[in-house]
Amino acid sequence: MSDSRVKLSCVSVALHWIVGISIIMLVAVGVYMTDYKVYALYPIHKSVGMIVFIFIFARVVWRVKQGWPEPASTYKSWEHALSKLVHWTLIIATVVMPVSGMLMSGLGGHGLSVFGLELLAATPNPDEVGKMIPINGPIAGVAHETHEISGKLMFVAFLLHVSGALKHHFMDKDGTLKRMLGQRID
Ligand code: HEM
Ligand code: HEM
Repeated sequence: MSDSRVKLSCVSVALHWIVGISIIMLVAVGVYMTDYKVYALYPIHKSVGMIVFIFIFARVVWRVKQGWPEPASTYKSWEHALSKLVHWTLIIATVVMPVSGMLMSGLGGHGLSVFGLELLAATPNPDEVGKMIPINGPIAGVAHETHEISGKLMFVAFLLHVSGALKHHFMDKDGTLKRMLGQRID
């Protein structure tokens, strides 16, 4: 059950797509709910984000144990360097996003719950309806900024990532994408 040049393990493939597709949806919902102030989506975004964090954590542990997959073919040194940079950016950002989200909400006094299951109680302000008393306002503020900036950085890395995957598949015609779809390559 380990990765090789000709075939990636089902764990690597499953974790890549579970985390990847969830992240794409969380970014889309996150930007939409923030821009259009759709507050009903906030608890769903937060709950799904915390559940996905379990898979993100499992994936990081798996990568630490396995190392990065070997390149499917031979490439120029700049291609190696760029793909390494993009993979590191993506995997670090997938950890930073849920952690900063939890710190922003938890320390901002909004509490943390997963589909109604309370993990940390909210601390509402009795004098102002709808306002919270932050547990640590400055750290919650830094976490908020981090969530926004890291989201944008991750999006840029994602565009490079998908362009790279398509270049490998359609221009180089190598097995990089096929391998991530679970197929054996030669
Ligand atoms: C797991 C991956 C996650 C991703 C990829 C993600 C992504 C995003 C993005 C792209 C935004 C829009 C930021 C902006 O344009 O201002 C956003 C907003 C937000 N996210 Fe997340 N998020 C994740 C997890 C979480 C978690 C776990 C929480 C809290 C427990 C959370 C809480 C929030 C909140 C409260 C906002 C709205 C911020 C505002 O009103 O300015 N997120 N998220
Ligand atoms: C349509 C979307 C996506 C496609 C087509 C895609 C495709 C691929 C392919 C073909 C590889 C293998 C690269 C190699 O063998 O060197 C890969 C690896 C990787 N992808 Fe994606 N990907 C997508 C979305 C994402 C997203 C959203 C993330 C994270 C935010 C992500 C993170 C990674 C990482 C960290 C790797 C390195 C190997 C691993 O840890 O599994 N991908 N992707």
